[in-house]
Amino acid sequence: MILDGRKPPLPSADKRWRLVDAAMRRNGYRPQGLIETLHAVQEAFGYVDDAALRFVSQSLQVPPSQVLGVTTFYHQFKMKPQGRHTCVICTGTACYIKGNDRALEHVQKTYGVSVGGTTPDKELSLVAARCVGACGLAPVVILDGVVVGKLVDEAVQARIREWLKT
Ligand code: FES
Repeated sequence: MILDGRKPPLPSADKRWRLVDAAMRRNGYRPQGLIETLHAVQEAFGYVDDAALRFVSQSLQVPPSQVLGVTTFYHQFKMKPQGRHTCVICTGTACYIKGNDRALEHVQKTYGVSVGGTTPDKELSLVAARCVGACGLAPVVILDGVVVGKLVDEAVQARIREWLKT
């Protein structure tokens, strides 16, 4: 609910914030949309950090303490990246049909990590997102916040391999 008609600015130019904003808009920026909004944050970024808490709090006019309370109450919301690296694989339609189904399977099998999980050595967390808002670059994976597009099969596998060495 934007009481004075002014929305807070998006926290950064990262397109994923637009997805979060879209989730709030769907609920008319009403506080009742809080959980759906937190799901959108979790899905897009893999965790709900301070910037997200502030943005959601200001946008929905919900006290930060309440946003924090809901985030910590539900186990599916993570407050920080679970692994040293976070790989978000977009499984929205455009990305899925262009090969991200195989990328997702590859990461799961090769690194022994399930969707939403982290490897036992805490090196890699894997997140599957429905659409990260960059369909023109499909198929999209996001490696520690860096959007990588238009790479399929061996090319995306090699990129992930290289990235994990950093
Ligand atoms: S479906 Fe992947 S960015 Fe939209």
